[in-house]
Amino acid sequence: MILLEELEFTEYFTRCSIFLDEYKWIFQHANTKFVEAGTLDRIPADWIRDMSSASVKEFNEIPFGYINEGWCDDFKKFLLSVRDLSVLFKYVNFLDLNYARLKGIGPKKLYEIENLTAIIANTCKGDEIIWDFGSGLGYLSQNVHLKLRLPVMGIEGDPYRVEASLQRQTKYFPDSINSVKFVQHFIQPDSFSFLEATSTSLLPKDRIPKYALVGLHACADLSVTAIRMFLRNEPITKLIMMPCCYHKLKPENHDCTSFYNIPVSIQLRKSLPPHVLSRPFLRLGCQQTSARWKKMSEAEHDSHGKAMFERSIVEAVLNKDETVVVNKSRSCEKKNLLDGYTLYDSCKKSSRSWSSDHSKKLDTLLTKYPNGCRLAEYLTCLQTCLQSICENVILLDRMCYVETEATKSGLEVRKQLLKLSNDELSPRCFVFIIEKIK
Ligand SMILES: C[S@@+](CC[C@H](N)C(=O)[O-])C[C@H]1O[C@@H](n2cnc3c(N)ncnc32)[C@H](O)[C@@H]1O
Repeated sequence: MILLEELEFTEYFTRCSIFLDEYKWIFQHANTKFVEAGTLDRIPADWIRDMSSASVKEFNEIPFGYINEGWCDDFKKFLLSVRDLSVLFKYVNFLDLNYARLKGIGPKKLYEIENLTAIIANTCKGDEIIWDFGSGLGYLSQNVHLKLRLPVMGIEGDPYRVEASLQRQTKYFPDSINSVKFVQHFIQPDSFSFLEATSTSLLPKDRIPKYALVGLHACADLSVTAIRMFLRNEPITKLIMMPCCYHKLKPENHDCTSFYNIPVSIQLRKSLPPHVLSRPFLRLGCQQTSARWKKMSEAEHDSHGKAMFERSIVEAVLNKDETVVVNKSRSCEKKNLLDGYTLYDSCKKSSRSWSSDHSKKLDTLLTKYPNGCRLAEYLTCLQTCLQSICENVILLDRMCYVETEATKSGLEVRKQLLKLSNDELSPRCFVFIIEKIK
C-alpha cells in the first residue's frame, strides 16, 4: 500500500500499466460480452480451484488483500500486486444531516451534499462567488448558499433540470432568489468569459470577482473541463469537485480506445500501453467499490453470479443485428432462460421470436459452462480487485496534470484528493480540492 503523499506519479503509472496490461483480460470486455469473448476460459484453473476452496469470509476479503498461503503462486502474485498498488487516501466525514431543509432527498445524496458543503466551507475564505458545475436540480447550490451565505451560480446543460431548479427554488428557498441563480449552458474549456459576464450581470456586485468551481458528481468530461478552466483563468482560485461517470468520457475514435480527457497527463500518456484504455476499463473504474462486496452473503454471491452469467450467455446466442431487453415480469417460473428476454431486430426496430438456432446455441454454452454462474462471480471478484486501481489511475492522471501544468505556468497550487468515509453509501466519493496559493 502506498501513501498518497509519498506517491511518485511516473513510477506509479508505470507499475499500474505493466500490471493492467498483463491482466487486461479481466476487464477488457463489457460484462454482457464476457461469455462471447471467452473470458471465462482465461481464468486459470488453479485460480478457480483456489477461489472455490475459499470460505465466503475469505472470498469477501480477497479484494481487501487477503491471501491464503496455500493458494497457487500465480494467484498469489496477482493478489500481491493488487495489494502493492493500492493507495491510502485521507478520509473525511463531516455529517450534519438537516432533513427538515432537504426534504425529498435520499440519504445518499444528503450525505454527499452535506459533506461536500462542509469541505467547501473549510476551503473557501468567504469572499468567493461559487459556480456549481453541472448543478442538476440545484441541491448543492442551494445548500452551499444556505450554509455559507455565498452567492452561487448553478450552471447546467440540461434545460429541464434548470427549470426544475428554479421551481424548487421558488417552492423551498424563495429568500435565495437574488443570491442563487441558475443558468442553462453547456460548459466547455473556453466558457470562462461567458460565465464571468453572466455571473457579473446576475449576482450582487458586492465583491471582487474570485470564483470557486464546485461540483457534485461532475460527470464524464465536466470535471476535467473544470480543471482546465481553473488552470487557465486567474480569477478562479479554487476547485472542489466530486467526479463521476468516467465511462461517459468522450471518445476520440469510433472503437472507443482513445479519449479526449484521459490521459490528460503526459506521464500517464507515456506509460499506458495500447489496448488497456477502453470503455470497460473506465466502467470498471466507476463500478461499485469493494465496500459492498465485503458484506455479501453466499446467497447474494449466487444470485449476482447467476444474473451476470445469464445476461452474458443470452448476449452470446444473438446473431448480427439482434439485441435483447430483459423482461420486467421475471417472477413466474420460466421453462427456458430466453423466455426472460425479448429479442429485437435492431435494424427493423421490432421484436421477433427466439428460434431453434438460438436455443441450440444456448444449450451448447450451458453444456460448456456447467458452473458458469460460479465462474461469473469469480470474474466479478477479480474485477473488484482491480476496481480501485483503475479509479486511481483515472484520478491520479488528473492530479498529475494539475501539478505539471501549474509548474509550467509558474502557478503555486495546493492540491488534495480526499475520500468520503462511507464509500458503501456513496461509491463515487473522491473529492478534488485544488487551490491557487498566489
Ligand atoms: C450526475 S449529474 C449531477 C447533478 C447534481 N450536481 C447532483 O449531484 O445532483 C451531472 C449533471 O451535470 C450536467 N452536465 C454534464 N456535463 C455538463 C456540461 N459540460 N455543462 C453543463 N452541465 C453538464 C448533466 O446534465 C447533469 O445534470
